[in-house]
Amino acid sequence: MRVLVLHGPNLNLLGERDPGVYGKQTLDQLNETIAREASAAGVEVRCEQYNGEGQIVDALHAARKTYAGVVLNPGAYAHYSYAIADAIAAIGIPVVEVHLSNVAGREAFRRTSVTAAACRGVVSGFGAASYRLALRALVEILGA
Ligand code: DQA
Repeated sequence: MRVLVLHGPNLNLLGERDPGVYGKQTLDQLNETIAREASAAGVEVRCEQYNGEGQIVDALHAARKTYAGVVLNPGAYAHYSYAIADAIAAIGIPVVEVHLSNVAGREAFRRTSVTAAACRGVVSGFGAASYRLALRALVEILGA
């Protein structure tokens, strides 16, 4: 089973961007953690990162042919991208939304996710563990 982990805008700066909120791990280190979790769960994982909204839409479209499901951190696009929400709804494979920080406890604009409604569920607030938990949830959905 193949799953795709998609990191959205600014997540390439993990480790240097606001470490108090997003942690000290770099994106490469986070991807290693995800790869270990995937291997323990017996799934093949690929991690990609895009800053552009259209790139994320394209990656979601492409994923429907190749992957069983997607773990997506839309970054700030979660709060306003109807294009990404529509892409999630269109592809017909499960998408689990993930956030490192607890978006429900931050600024008002972060408390809305327009993409979450199109996803199977959301994991938010557990740092790198959010991705591990989201991956586990996805594997469980796919195995059910
Ligand atoms: C984030 C939360 C978003 O509000 C923010 O814009 C990000 C990261 C998170 O992982 O906590 O870029 O998605």
